[in-house]
Amino acid sequence: MRNKKTQCTDLLRGALRILTFATFMGAQTLSGQSIWEGGDVENGQSLFDENCGSCHKVTNEVLAAPGLAGIKDRWSSSDEILVQWIQNPQGAAATGDAYVKSLVERYVGTYGWMSAQAVSADDVRDIMAYVQNPPDVAADVATAGNGCVNIDEVPVSETKDGSTLWFLTLLVLFLVIALSASGVNRSLTNTLREGQGQEPLEDLGYLARLKGWAWNNMVFVSVLGLFVVAYAVVQGYSALMGVGVYEGYLPEQPVKFIHSVHVCENEVDCKYCHHSAYESKHAGIPSTNVCMNCHKAVKKGKRYGEVEIGKIYAAIGFDPESGTYLDGDGNNGYAAPQTSFGGEPIKWNKVHNLPDHVYFSHQQHVVVGGLQCQNCHGDVETWSAGRIASVDHINTLVDKYPGLIQLSKPTLTMGWCIECHNKASIDLASSEYYEEMHNRMKDDVRGNEELRRILEDDKITVKELGGWECSKCHY
Ligand code: HEC
Ligand code: HEC
Ligand code: HEC
Ligand code: HEC
Ligand code: HEC
Ligand code: HEC
Repeated sequence: MRNKKTQCTDLLRGALRILTFATFMGAQTLSGQSIWEGGDVENGQSLFDENCGSCHKVTNEVLAAPGLAGIKDRWSSSDEILVQWIQNPQGAAATGDAYVKSLVERYVGTYGWMSAQAVSADDVRDIMAYVQNPPDVAADVATAGNGCVNIDEVPVSETKDGSTLWFLTLLVLFLVIALSASGVNRSLTNTLREGQGQEPLEDLGYLARLKGWAWNNMVFVSVLGLFVVAYAVVQGYSALMGVGVYEGYLPEQPVKFIHSVHVCENEVDCKYCHHSAYESKHAGIPSTNVCMNCHKAVKKGKRYGEVEIGKIYAAIGFDPESGTYLDGDGNNGYAAPQTSFGGEPIKWNKVHNLPDHVYFSHQQHVVVGGLQCQNCHGDVETWSAGRIASVDHINTLVDKYPGLIQLSKPTLTMGWCIECHNKASIDLASSEYYEEMHNRMKDDVRGNEELRRILEDDKITVKELGGWECSKCHY
């Protein structure tokens, strides 16, 4: 015997079935093929990121819900129920479908109900295409949230060409041969003299022998000498103008600080950590206190867990468990997990380092010159550790950074500085001083050939203002 209540529920069930059927028809009429085929992976990825990515991963990993890897093999119910589950999970459960029932039993207790998603059947097809063909794991690691890229492996450019080495080797080889030849010559002469009952020649030192040999081969030695001098001049010139001795330099750092995590993923401005670039000659490296503004709370990283962030705590004397600083001197005996780093300030290795005789000011370039950091350092937002960007790489960034000045000489060489000073023009409106000077120059211009030339193209370069004078850059 069935009571009224069950009859009522049956009726409701029936109504739901019809509804489900309608949805099913809807799904079918959208396009008559299987939900697992013919989807657009790219569109699926963006739909997934937008609607599903906050709870699901495309791998087996659990986020706020089970991962969706292998869903096609697992989903033993119909396509239509899948679409319905995504659009309205509780509605799908109400159909009494066996797979959905097992799903609810397994997960709802742990994760709660999945929320209903405003996606169409075609959207689900695209999403499933993406879930079944996720980008390979390597690409997944390289591309963190918000499409941020991290270039951990950059090609480190050749720093020295082999020609110097070859030249030196040949020179040494030649000298050795020449000297031993003269040595052999001497012993032959001595044997001869002994045979004739004469005194052997006194045994000369290498230097004396060299002198004697040079004296006897004057023309050859002069030519060789000229050659060596010319070689030194050429080498010296190319060192100034640009053999890339710095580009690509990427030293190991005591803490695996990752620029891309901070600048790109978490949108921290360069200024937050390198604010002195706007105020002084130096850009500077942030002190550990600056790191602690955030890392007092952020105790774990996605890539290195507690290990790398733990080094900051070890350096400054902070106990992450209790959230307190230990004694005042920062030496507290707290050891970061799995490291031997303890109680020492972080000693960052310098990456950029111009010779002492060169004067360079960040403020002059960033504030007065209005240059972007990327014009000289490249796309730091994709970096892990600090590295010296190559000029070829910087040149590829023009589309991303409008106004970027393209150069050809390797970064940090004198050729690079002066090439830019020849190309970069000064924004006269940027300061009253320049405007005033410009106006006075315009008044003076008649009869002054040099001034006329400077103002001819209506553009004043850094060079024209004295940016090529040795004393501007050299102490
Ligand atoms: C708010 C979190 C949340 C969002 C957003 C979400 N889901 Fe779910 N999903 C869950 C949970 C939780 C489960 C496990 C069942 C349950 O507890 O409801 C689940 C289960 C599933 C299942 C079944 C998994 C299996 O192993 O059979 C599929 C398929 C699914 N979701 C697809 C999607 C799709 C596609 C989207 C985006 C359009 C999406 N989900 C968005 C939380 C979510
Ligand atoms: C403005 C806030 C902020 C500042 C300042 C800051 N960080 Fe971070 N840092 C973060 C955030 C957010 C994360 C990301 C945590 C995650 O992976 O979810 C992070 C992650 C890290 C990681 C872990 C990376 C990983 O994936 O394991 C390290 C190491 C790190 N920071 C070092 C530093 C150092 C060293 C400083 C100081 C020079 C510093 N941070 C300054 C916010 C900051
Ligand atoms: C015109 C080119 C140029 C621009 C623009 C520029 N830098 Fe630099 N940067 C350099 C040079 C050259 C050095 C090496 C200075 C030295 O060794 O004395 C350097 C060094 C650095 C250093 C190492 C620490 C130091 O002070 O020597 C940091 C950090 C830095 N720059 C950050 C920045 C940031 C952040 C910006 C943007 C706000 C920026 N730079 C803009 C050329 C530039
Ligand atoms: C959260 C703090 C933080 C932010 C934000 C940050 N940096 Fe850095 N930067 C560091 C630390 C710490 C180092 C030293 C470790 C290293 O070289 O990797 C560094 C190193 C550098 C170096 C190399 C320094 C040297 O020794 O020559 C340059 C250049 C640089 N940063 C430029 C930038 C630029 C440009 C931005 C913005 C796009 C930026 N940084 C944003 C913390 C930061
Ligand atoms: C990307 C272009 C660029 C590069 C590279 C560059 N500079 Fe400059 N530099 C400028 C600009 C623009 C100004 C003018 C700023 C202004 O408006 O006064 C300037 C001005 C200067 C000045 C002041 C000149 C004056 O007349 O007062 C000095 C000194 C200087 N730079 C040194 C250097 C050194 C040293 C290097 C190489 C290590 C270098 N610059 C690399 C663009 C550059
Ligand atoms: C715009 C800035 C700038 C100007 C102007 C400039 N230099 Fe330089 N110079 C540099 C830089 C930067 C270096 C270091 C390059 C390197 O180490 O490769 C350098 C290096 C040198 C060296 C090599 C020293 C060594 O350690 O090998 C000599 C010599 C030199 N400059 C002479 C001059 C003379 C002479 C002038 C004037 C005609 C001049 N420079 C003008 C920026 C400049």
